[in-house]
Amino acid sequence: MKILVTGGAGFIGSHVVRRFVNTYPNYQIVNLDKLTYAGNLANLKDIEDKPNYSFVKGDIVDAAFIDNLFAEEQFDAVIHLAAESHVDRSITSPLDFVMTNVVGTVNLLNAARKHWAGKYAENRFYHVSTDEVYGTLGETGMFTEETAYDPHSPYSASKASSDHFVRAYQDTYGINTVISNCSNNYGSYHFPEKLIPLALNNIKNNKPVPVYGKGENIRDWLWVEDHARAIDVIFHNAKSGQTYNIGGHNEWKNIDLIRLLCKLMDQKLGREEGTSEKLITFVTDRAGHDLRYAIDSSKLQRELGWAPSLQFEEGLAKTVDWYLANEEWLDDVTSGNYQSYYEEQYDHR
Ligand code: NAD
Ligand code: TYD
Repeated sequence: MKILVTGGAGFIGSHVVRRFVNTYPNYQIVNLDKLTYAGNLANLKDIEDKPNYSFVKGDIVDAAFIDNLFAEEQFDAVIHLAAESHVDRSITSPLDFVMTNVVGTVNLLNAARKHWAGKYAENRFYHVSTDEVYGTLGETGMFTEETAYDPHSPYSASKASSDHFVRAYQDTYGINTVISNCSNNYGSYHFPEKLIPLALNNIKNNKPVPVYGKGENIRDWLWVEDHARAIDVIFHNAKSGQTYNIGGHNEWKNIDLIRLLCKLMDQKLGREEGTSEKLITFVTDRAGHDLRYAIDSSKLQRELGWAPSLQFEEGLAKTVDWYLANEEWLDDVTSGNYQSYYEEQYDHR
């Protein structure tokens, strides 16, 4: 089986590529990535020389390029993760999100429609999506697969739109699709514009840790390797047309999570308890900031037997250890392009 993984140089994509390359030596894994600011081939150093892995640099927005790639490579399946993924960037540049997340997804679907003719039932198109399509929860309740879509940010609106296109191609042309909607991930190789790696990096460098609003917003955190395992399980076992929610039953208020991180960092860096907490800085809230996400993943547990493997405290401690042991990765990523973005994003607050 030859699988096209898009966005494999990003955070979650690199874990998916690594898992598939190592677990299935008889599959060919082709990683297609544009290498935007978020794509980093250093994320895949440990598997780049494996015989069942190859990398193609390219843009999913380029329809002719995607069409040629499908003609040349004759993929049997697609696992589609390439996306613009950061909510704050979507507020500044919504059209980038429409192009990659919506147009890019439709280009891939069109290529599947054309090149998989006669094989729609066998060949699988797996779209990796987010719980943010469901909008926001109040103090109670959880997102299920039946929750109506209600996106609030340009990012979540673009992901919701791409989910609709994937379902439309299933219903209209009979392409075998699956979608999963996952909650916030954390772990190694996470780009430090997102909350956890950004806070870790700033604590390490004694820089202010920006907390939006009052830090009351709640996210449901899942270890990235548990997400990659869920994708493996769903890819191999889900029935055509199914959707699965993926989450860790692990809700944290942002401010509590940041305080826990500060405590862990004080321990790991040998700082006096309470030192890192002094770096917490409350800044202007994000526009349209969703209050709470919580995922009901019981369908995935019941039907396909998946469950998260790590408790959060254990996963977070592992994650802190990884970032402290991989300073070179963090320094490489935080230099260059990222710095100017960082200044644009935070200097006006
Ligand atoms: P990421 O930003 O770390 O990685 C995205 C990757 O896509 C990068 O390698 C980038 O170079 C590539 N890419 C971007 N535009 C491209 C284009 N036009 N053509 C080809 N490649 C392009 O994102 P991530 O956090 O790893 O998220 C991966 C997927 O999972 C996304 O679809 C996202 O919506 C979804 N998701 C993320 C989370 C999360 O917590 N991070 C949770 C649920 C779902
Ligand atoms: P983020 O990692 O951007 O993920 P998402 O917005 O997709 O959930 O943000 C997680 C939460 O942390 C979200 O409620 C916004 C908040 N946040 C901060 O308080 N400070 C920060 O510097 C960032 C990046 C996020």
